[in-house]
Amino acid sequence: MVRIAPSVLSADFSNLRDDIAKVEKGGAHLLHVDVMDGHFVPNITFGPLIVGALNRITELPLDVHLMVENPHQYFKQFIQEGADWISIHCEGNHHLNRDIITLKEEGVKVGVVLNPATPLSSLDYILDYVDFALLMSVNPGFGGQKFIDNLKQKIRCLRETIDKRALRVEIEVDGGIELDNIQEIVSCGVDIVVAGSSIFHHQDPEWVVREMIKRCS
Ligand code: DX5
Ligand code: ZN
Repeated sequence: MVRIAPSVLSADFSNLRDDIAKVEKGGAHLLHVDVMDGHFVPNITFGPLIVGALNRITELPLDVHLMVENPHQYFKQFIQEGADWISIHCEGNHHLNRDIITLKEEGVKVGVVLNPATPLSSLDYILDYVDFALLMSVNPGFGGQKFIDNLKQKIRCLRETIDKRALRVEIEVDGGIELDNIQEIVSCGVDIVVAGSSIFHHQDPEWVVREMIKRCS
């Protein structure tokens, strides 16, 4: 069954507790937290303190997507504040294997992230170390962008590779997913869907989450 991870980037920050309660009620499985440093991506969002605050107001596992340079500098802080899943980008990381192993040793669920134009071959020697692979279906940095269509082919290829190698790696997809395209995208072999604006910018986020789950089952 597909799992839904609402992205708090599009939530109402003046009313986070209420917005999160709504997606919890709708049956969300995870909460996706986009950490941006203004260097790796052209936007700044939040750090470990906000992760700690989220941890106190939700029971949902926190899926922390690090879009930062030198992510290893912050692993300890995010884990201390309650990150349950942590994903790091392969782009620009000279020590991906070391970082992934460090995170595994810390006991969190570990993911590797690929930007839309990064080839799947970047995963060849890291796929058997991770719990999930996060495929970006928009260029990272902002919510509310359009799903990049050739990602469907990329998802299918990754699904095939994982199945062929008999790995227990889950596929998460992030960006531009809404009610109108979720079914088609998930049918390519997705396990976890991240959705921000389509959930939190709707007048009834609880309904959207429930409807997303329904359309994929
Ligand atoms: C983009 C972030 C996404 C973003 C998705 O850099 O990684 O998680 O919140 O937002 P939507 O669903 O609006 O494309
Ligand atoms: Zn994200």
